[in-house]
Amino acid sequence: MPNKIILKKKITNFCKQISIPGDKSISIRWVLISSLARGVSKAQNLLMSEDVIASIQAIRKLGIKVLTKKNICKVYGDGIKGYRYKKNLVINAQNSGTLGRLITGILIDTPFPIKIIGDKSLSKRDFKRITNPLSKFGASFQLNNNKLPLIIKGSKELKPIKFFENKGSAQCKSSIILGGIKVEGKTIIRAKKSRNHTELLFKHLKLPIKIKKKKKFDLIEVRKVNEIKPINYNIPSDISSGAFFIALTVLTKKSQLIIKNVNVNPTRIGVITILRKMGVKILLLNKKNYKGESIADIFIKSPKKIKSINCPSNLNSEAIDEFLIIFLIAAKAKGISYFKNLDELNKKESPRLEWGSKILKMMGIKVITTKNSIKIFGNPNLKIKNKIMIKNYLKDHRVFMTSVVAALSFGGEWHIHDKDAIKSSFPSFLKIVNLLKKK
Ligand code: S3P
Repeated sequence: MPNKIILKKKITNFCKQISIPGDKSISIRWVLISSLARGVSKAQNLLMSEDVIASIQAIRKLGIKVLTKKNICKVYGDGIKGYRYKKNLVINAQNSGTLGRLITGILIDTPFPIKIIGDKSLSKRDFKRITNPLSKFGASFQLNNNKLPLIIKGSKELKPIKFFENKGSAQCKSSIILGGIKVEGKTIIRAKKSRNHTELLFKHLKLPIKIKKKKKFDLIEVRKVNEIKPINYNIPSDISSGAFFIALTVLTKKSQLIIKNVNVNPTRIGVITILRKMGVKILLLNKKNYKGESIADIFIKSPKKIKSINCPSNLNSEAIDEFLIIFLIAAKAKGISYFKNLDELNKKESPRLEWGSKILKMMGIKVITTKNSIKIFGNPNLKIKNKIMIKNYLKDHRVFMTSVVAALSFGGEWHIHDKDAIKSSFPSFLKIVNLLKKK
């Protein structure tokens, strides 16, 4: 199978209802926390992408039985001390920062050193951001220039810590929360606002966590956990995957879309807030609460005009995985859009601020970028005629999917390489694209 696609035709107006796969952040958390529970946890609609499969493989390496059949996954946990540690264990987090960072927190009490490795992209990412605070618990770490491969040397004499998380990184926050449950005493985290799936799952499971919400940060207190009950969970759909279809609807005249049963946790819907500010009509229908998470059907209608935006940076964390497609929409807005304080964006699976600027320039859009900001000079009449080649050597799934949305929205001849990249988060992406193409 060729690993590139060629797109030469814009998509025409559509009016459809779609379902998309399970939320990646919740899927990985469910796998990891279920592996510490006592008894059989069962999930429906678990995302079966490479990041989640890598999480399943990781807990299997630690001696936990996992069965998957159709849409159901069962994890046979043996309690918080149930891992079967062995000498010379290597865990491959592949492309997943969430897996690599969260599991490192869980493993701070390992009796034997454990090595964490990842793919080319993950091996370029910073792990010092978690090993610094985790080493204060008493574990020690060996890194390769702040990066993977890393070796965890656990400790039996762990002590609680106080940690200031100031990047707005849910992975760092969650890594420390998961370390904290192995430690006698009160671990305190002062965390800049970020996605809160770990905290919500802890609350649902009645684990010892206290959260005080302040304006700009949360104060989180965690204590040692002795027992976790099995977790039955029906995973809602991932807004970060849905966002590509939200964007396609916004950029395709006279279109409407409903995306069913999506997680619209307030810490994840920055893309909706930003697009509404840009004049897009988006409704959240049939809203309900599920185990502390908010779920709704999302309705989107393509706007007649897109407004430019000076994006408030307090929305950055809530929209962090969606900026590439937000930039695409800004390319078609009337006026200049400005996005700032995006230091974290270049630290993702690939340098996404650089990619955003590169793709827009190839499309003939004027942009001015600094190391953490981008100014986009929108063109509401943008039509692409030239040939565009996207070679995404770090195989960033969101770079691939953004390029597909751009090709289908603006025309031109796009040669988009590294199709395999979608396997990490959204293997059925192109199938759903084809569904929208069908009349
Ligand atoms: C994630 C947190 C975010 C996000 C990533 C998933 C999570 O990363 O970009 O795709 O599941 O906790 P950071 O915590 O590094 O911001």
